[in-house]
Amino acid sequence: MKRFFYFVAVCLFMTACKPSSELSSPDGTLTVRFEHYCSQGIAYSVYQNGENIIESSPLGLVTENLTLQKGFHLKHIKHTHSNSQWETVWGEERLITDHHNAMLVELEHETGLRMNIEFRAFNDGFAFRYIFPKQATKSLIITDELTAYRFTKDAEAWSIPWRTEYYEGLWHKRTINNSQSSNAESQLTTDTLCSPVTIEFADGTYGFVHEAALTDYPAQNLYVREGALRTYLTPWMNKQTANNQEPKAFVKTPFSTPWRMVILTKTLPELVASRIMLNLNEPCKIEDTSWIKPMKFMGIWWGMHVKTMTWEQGPKHGATTENMERYMRFAKEHGIQAVLAEGWNKGWEDWKHFDFTTPYDDWNMDYLSRLASELGVQIVGHNETGGNAADYEKDLDSIYRYHALHGIHAIKTGYVAPIIRTVDGLQWNKGQSGVRHYRKVIETAAKYQIMIDNHEPVMPTGLQRTYPNLVTQEGVRGQEWNAWSADGGNPCEHVTVLPFTRIMAGPVDFTPGVFHFENPGNAIDPTGTRGTADLNAPRVHATLMNQLGLFVCFYSPLQMACDLPEHYMEHPDAFSFIEHVPCNWERSLLVDGKIGDFCIFARQERGTNNWYLGGVTDEEPREVSIPLSFLDEQNGNTQTGQYKAVLYLDAEDAEWMSRPYAYNIKEIELTSADTLHIRMASGGGFAAEFICR
Ligand code: NOJ
Repeated sequence: MKRFFYFVAVCLFMTACKPSSELSSPDGTLTVRFEHYCSQGIAYSVYQNGENIIESSPLGLVTENLTLQKGFHLKHIKHTHSNSQWETVWGEERLITDHHNAMLVELEHETGLRMNIEFRAFNDGFAFRYIFPKQATKSLIITDELTAYRFTKDAEAWSIPWRTEYYEGLWHKRTINNSQSSNAESQLTTDTLCSPVTIEFADGTYGFVHEAALTDYPAQNLYVREGALRTYLTPWMNKQTANNQEPKAFVKTPFSTPWRMVILTKTLPELVASRIMLNLNEPCKIEDTSWIKPMKFMGIWWGMHVKTMTWEQGPKHGATTENMERYMRFAKEHGIQAVLAEGWNKGWEDWKHFDFTTPYDDWNMDYLSRLASELGVQIVGHNETGGNAADYEKDLDSIYRYHALHGIHAIKTGYVAPIIRTVDGLQWNKGQSGVRHYRKVIETAAKYQIMIDNHEPVMPTGLQRTYPNLVTQEGVRGQEWNAWSADGGNPCEHVTVLPFTRIMAGPVDFTPGVFHFENPGNAIDPTGTRGTADLNAPRVHATLMNQLGLFVCFYSPLQMACDLPEHYMEHPDAFSFIEHVPCNWERSLLVDGKIGDFCIFARQERGTNNWYLGGVTDEEPREVSIPLSFLDEQNGNTQTGQYKAVLYLDAEDAEWMSRPYAYNIKEIELTSADTLHIRMASGGGFAAEFICR
């Protein structure tokens, strides 16, 4: 009886001002309900196949003087439908279908401020954003966002804490919907997570919470409170509102926030295949994209991380004319399209005054730029700012003009500093000011036909659809940690988590392809401060075949083969996979996988019928069976095609720590009716190419 009264009381309290409005996905399986309660304000809930997946969860924003959640009048609701297909400049797919239903909810606050909420429902998830149309109020200071996700099912989320420097952390699984902590400070410092989070629901289904089209707004972070995932916007540093609040965003109307998006799928392959994030971004704004070319590159890079070379000029200087020429000639011989050089420019002695247009004396830019065009091998420029975004931004035009004049059309940028200096002073790189800086870099680079590989970036949100010159980004605990990390390097599991977490947000410059695992330059010192007792030095926790598998599992249209030429020549037969593997795809699919255990991806080369397969496992050896039906089904062929397959496999006795170099390469004829049975060693993997006859 008591429960009944409680139920009635709750219903009365949540009386609707207007009946709720629903939006269904095109296939009718997913429904988003906009709720408008007199007492509670605006909220939403989500149903999938009739089951309540997200129960009534708050919507709204807080400005300097208003809480935009209650006190709204519903003015109008408009439904629209869209079904289109668009072609990517580069990507995991050539063609992407954008099929969704949309609902625009027009609201007016009792103060007269107008705020709309646009919802989109896709078959595999939903999204919404807040829109301030053109109106008398010209500007707003946003101090908080109330968006929450109250999942009904028990769920665990793979995530990294929000203050993880440069997002370079190991992802862990945490329970997200039964935390009752009410201590605000502990929430912000320990429980707040970076967006995205990848969710494993207790019933075996999957979710992914992130944002799309982050533009002139702070990046979203997420924290758990009272059973819901809630939004914590990255704050401005060193700024306060007139009434002593922490500002998050300064916006001018008309304005739209980034999309808040959730993918919900039954299976992991469906989660990975979702293209909601790209569909929510604006179409390409660059008219002529013919100069944007996916490519593999090598670089004067790993040597600095394993300490056989230096960035700064001196006896071990890496970026010398001679060394670069050696790399470029090697690249030419092996079909690698470009070479990166770090440490070619002045400023590495103190990391304080980088000069992006003055080479060190032992770097002859004119000669190398002529050689590049003679060989048809591009130079990838490098602009490490040391976190001084303000100085870099001031000179962007002249820096990019200089690079373009020397035929350099790809630049790796870097912002090594936990807090960067923007035109607004010291700021989080993922705060509004940092987001503005990165956008300015992409837009300016586009003017000079320069592609950007952004290290220490803000988490990707699909902007590459609008600016395909933003080809790849770091924002990951990448390979370099295997060179020098005091904890010994990335655990084997790491590479089996990333495709389902960080890489779901966008291409990653992880830099796969280490072929030489000894690392004396970073060896443990006698006091034992580096590495672990049985490791001697940090190292790559992988077999050589695992390193090949990454070229398929980790998507990046600018894909680095990171090791030294001489190390590749220790295993030329294995290196031939790197020579052949493309980095632009017609279509891609997850063949099998389990987050944190293993993954197997298959991808069809763009413009051909050739396929590439790659897999990696954690420290558990694993036997997998892979039906090759994807070879033809995906092409819409009914014929069973014939393929020459080259398989790069861990040897029986391979093991990442003791026998990482043990592998076999087999060439066989296969058809799509065959099934491959492959064994991956501990920390192992495999790669395969299928050349269509
Ligand atoms: C960190 C980057 O991730 C790495 O790739 C680069 O070599 C160094 N910064 C120096 O810029």
